[in-house]
Amino acid sequence: MTRYSVSSLSIFVFLLSLAAACTSDNEEDDTPQPQQCNTENVTFASTVAPILSANCYSCHSTSVATAGIVLDTHAGVKKQADNGTLVGAITHAAGYTPMPQGAAKLSDCNISKIKKWVEDGAKNN
Ligand code: HEC
Repeated sequence: MTRYSVSSLSIFVFLLSLAAACTSDNEEDDTPQPQQCNTENVTFASTVAPILSANCYSCHSTSVATAGIVLDTHAGVKKQADNGTLVGAITHAAGYTPMPQGAAKLSDCNISKIKKWVEDGAKNN
C-alpha cells in the first residue's frame, strides 16, 4: 500500500514536470518576440556597413559600381539613403528595383536597422 502511494506520487510529479515543460515550450513558440531585433545604437560602421558588405558589395562597390551605385563608402550609401532608393530597394517598395538583386530579401531585422539609420540622418557614425 505504501509502495503504491509512493509510485503514484512519483508518477504524478513526473507528469507535473512534463506539463510544466510543455507549457514553457508553448510559451516560447507562441509568443512573438519583436524585441529580439535591437535597433538601438545603430551606427554606420558597426551595423549598416557589415550588412551591405555581406549582401551588396559584390555588385555595388567602388570597383564594381553597378548602375553607378557605390555602397562601400559612407558618401555612396548616404547618397542612396537621401534619395530614398536605399530603403525603397531593400523593402521591395513599388517603383524601386528590389535588392539584393537575384537573392533573398534582407531579414526584417536588418531592414529595420537600416531604416533606423536612415531616419537618424544617415550619419557617418
Ligand atoms: C547581383 C548584383 C546586385 C546585388 C547583389 C545588389 N544589387 Fe543593387 N542593383 C543591381 C543592378 C543591376 C541595379 C540596376 C537595376 C535597374 O536599374 O533596373 C541595382 C540597383 C540598385 C539600386 C537603385 C534601385 C532603384 O530603384 O533605383 C539600389 C538603391 C541598390 N541597387 C541597392 C542595393 C543594395 C542595398 C544591395 C544589397 C542589399 C544591392 N543593391 C545588391 C545589382 C545588384
